[in-house]
Amino acid sequence: MKVLIGVSGSVAAYKSLILARLLFKRGHNLKVVLTRGSLHFVAPLSFQELAGAEVFTEGDFFRGNTHIDLARWPDLFIVAPATFNVIGKVANGIADDLLTSIAAAYNGPIHFAPAMHTEMWRNPILRRNLSTLKRFGHVILPVGTGELASGDVGEGRMMEPEDVAAYVEDVGKLRSFWEGKRVVITYGGTQEPIDDVRVITNRSSGRMGIALASALTSAGAYVVAIACGDVDVAPARELHRVRTVEELYEVLKGMDYDYLFMAAAVSDYRPEYRKGKIKKNSESLTLNLVRTRDVLTSIAGEKRGIIVGFALEEPHRLHTEAQRKLREKGIDYVVANPTEVIGREETRVFLYGREGLLGEFSGAKWEVARQIVRALASV
Ligand SMILES: Cc1cc2nc3c(=O)[nH]c(=O)nc-3n(C[C@H](O)[C@H](O)[C@H](O)COP(=O)(O)O)c2cc1C
Repeated sequence: MKVLIGVSGSVAAYKSLILARLLFKRGHNLKVVLTRGSLHFVAPLSFQELAGAEVFTEGDFFRGNTHIDLARWPDLFIVAPATFNVIGKVANGIADDLLTSIAAAYNGPIHFAPAMHTEMWRNPILRRNLSTLKRFGHVILPVGTGELASGDVGEGRMMEPEDVAAYVEDVGKLRSFWEGKRVVITYGGTQEPIDDVRVITNRSSGRMGIALASALTSAGAYVVAIACGDVDVAPARELHRVRTVEELYEVLKGMDYDYLFMAAAVSDYRPEYRKGKIKKNSESLTLNLVRTRDVLTSIAGEKRGIIVGFALEEPHRLHTEAQRKLREKGIDYVVANPTEVIGREETRVFLYGREGLLGEFSGAKWEVARQIVRALASV
């Protein structure tokens, strides 16, 4: 693959040297753009010598149309490390140097591997900028928690270069299957109103759906994300937000898709809604719960493509329920996961197809999503 690596001014820039070296050894063709800030941490010659890369710096910016030529060149564009500054500039349409001008002209998902001190990582301005990037279909690789260059321990370490290299490798393989496919992903947890101010919901974080959206966006799919409740933004070409099961059904019912991933935790029951605000005038309050629409069955009844359902079950009935769901709902695959993974960073899933168990995957949701996407591409 032709890989363009943008390197910005973080101590973690040394990791991009390792990344470039790993990709070079796996036969990828590399070009590297170094920001002015990055030159304090790494040198162009290192990338040339270690990774056979053609290297561009600010001196190349106003020589012809370098930014346009470079934006048209790669199969994959990754900014690693991505500083607070570069993320902020790209998210806000600033293109005042070579790297951000390439980003402005690049027509596809840009991959950002952020690296920064925990205080910067938690800054609400950064959070907003990351959401903006995802809203425009760009992919944010997760950061690690651990020792930072300052000696502090916290969140904000750049993803390890071996993991970034594995991700890049995967993208190359997955594209031949997923490129151009229209994929709809529901994620998060629905909320059902009790009255005008209160809701009943569940603990779904939406992380699995966001990880699937990242893997599929990187793989060249046209991703439509439907976020249920107040979950984070997923990288997608289209993002819809819904709260209730009925709203979810309304958005989904007319949609076309090649693949539909029903990763959202959908309420099975909803309270009988009472207008206004229920007064606190008794010691106990009884809510009457009624069944919600079975969205999966309704959607499967008007099936337009391949449907991947998700089953969250207690461990002792995980396998039987997964197989029952597959049979009775008329869907194509089920990703079964035990109840203890809800809201967690790590997960363990079993992928079932109509012929039986296709695979068992465990690890960070980010990794597991890629394994699911890979398994579906190879059946
Ligand atoms: C020693 C040192 C380490 C830095 N590390 C980071 C970092 O890890 N992440 C970050 O966002 N900024 C970091 N900065 C700040 C950036 O270098 C600064 O915002 C700069 O303007 C980034 O420019 P660039 O993004 O165009 O490379 C660091 C600065 C210094 C002096």
